[in-house]
Amino acid sequence: MAQRKNKSLPIVGLDIGTTKVSVVVGELDLNGEVEIIGVGNHPSHGLKRGVVVNIEKTVDSIQNAAEKAERMSGHVIKEVIVGIAGGHIKGMNGHGMVTLRDKEVTSKDIERVIESANALLIPAEREIIHAIPQDYTVDRESGIKDPVGIHGLKLEADVHIVTGDVTAARNIIKCIEMSGMLSVDMVLEQIASSEAVLTADEREIGVAMIDFGGGTCDIAVFMNGSVKYTESITLGGDHLDRDIAFGLSVPLPEARKLKENHGTTMTKPNEMPSDERIEVKSASGHIPKNVLKRDLTTIIQLRMEEIFTLIKKEFLKKGFTGMLPAGVVLTGGSSKMREMTTLAEQVLDMPVRIGIPRDVNGLTEIITDPIYSTGVGLVKYASLNEEPGVPAGVLRQKNVFTRMKGWFNEFF
Ligand SMILES: Nc1ncnc2c1ncn2[C@@H]1O[C@H](COP(=O)(O)OP(=O)(O)OP(=O)(O)O)[C@@H](O)[C@H]1O
Ligand SMILES: [Mg+2]
Repeated sequence: MAQRKNKSLPIVGLDIGTTKVSVVVGELDLNGEVEIIGVGNHPSHGLKRGVVVNIEKTVDSIQNAAEKAERMSGHVIKEVIVGIAGGHIKGMNGHGMVTLRDKEVTSKDIERVIESANALLIPAEREIIHAIPQDYTVDRESGIKDPVGIHGLKLEADVHIVTGDVTAARNIIKCIEMSGMLSVDMVLEQIASSEAVLTADEREIGVAMIDFGGGTCDIAVFMNGSVKYTESITLGGDHLDRDIAFGLSVPLPEARKLKENHGTTMTKPNEMPSDERIEVKSASGHIPKNVLKRDLTTIIQLRMEEIFTLIKKEFLKKGFTGMLPAGVVLTGGSSKMREMTTLAEQVLDMPVRIGIPRDVNGLTEIITDPIYSTGVGLVKYASLNEEPGVPAGVLRQKNVFTRMKGWFNEFF
């Protein structure tokens, strides 16, 4: 990996989540490793299920989070790599084929073959966010990861293509610009989180990463080292808050506190003491009320089971059952729920571990937390694009302007 030449331009990840906006500032250190030098967080109020629904509130959250990250890192933030997620995102696998002009694969041929895979699949109102090559085939030789220089007549590629709704993507770009910054790349949130929490071995042998946040569960499945599947389920920790508020007649903020401080998924509710109570504010007035811990656990358990059962059915439908020896890596704020892995393992019938950002230096005591997986992952993802002798940011800008040309052209 490259040594950073231009220290003045840090790599900044912007995670606009349903519950919080976080800004993570990183640099490549002299060994080419990512060092996190600043983090800023602010509650988010302008999103619904991962999609911006209130521009003003989102801009306010971005500005607040960015100011905190600026103060901590000592950098003025000019450009960010932003995450995108939500129910409008679709991932699919495509296949492309081109004939080789020079009888030897060049990087131009790779661009052509990926483009030919894209061409078949994209409906008009959608734009490509990622086209990630999985494997190449040159003539009859398949399973090639880097075909440049190989001789042949025909190049084929299996490509994972992620598309998103143009309006949702433009609203994110607009919020960033109104916050006084430039978005230099847009990355699917589960691709970013995977970059932060998965090992290369897990991706090679087969693994599912689930970022269980406030508004969505964002899933990415890897096999043979590449992305095979991406999906967003529009259910998250916020749904638990609403279930608890409704089921126990408590205000929403109290429900969230109850969940975070006393919530658990596993203890069999029937076997819990029938009189263990927690004091909370009531929905109607100032007089506190007592809720049964057993009832809280039952509500959480039911919703969690529903979410993991949905995921299990999806894995079954896609043929992943028995194909993911590394199991599931759970991250995102909701993965902090007590006994989460036990319930997930029981429902999904696979090994489950909690993923926290790994292989980064710097502010590890802050970012060693599943809520930072996307933010840190964005920085790590962008750092892969740095090259020796090229000032930081130049390649990123080139990438994004090529990739998102259509959006920008129509937007301005
Ligand atoms: N200790 C805890 N136990 C259970 N849930 C928790 C805990 N800590 C945080 N959460 C929940 O995690 C969720 C926030 O997670 P996260 O910060 O990953 O979401 P987000 O990125 O803002 O949302 P999304 O990615 O869905 O847009 C909230 O629902 C919060 O209540
Ligand atoms: Mg998130």
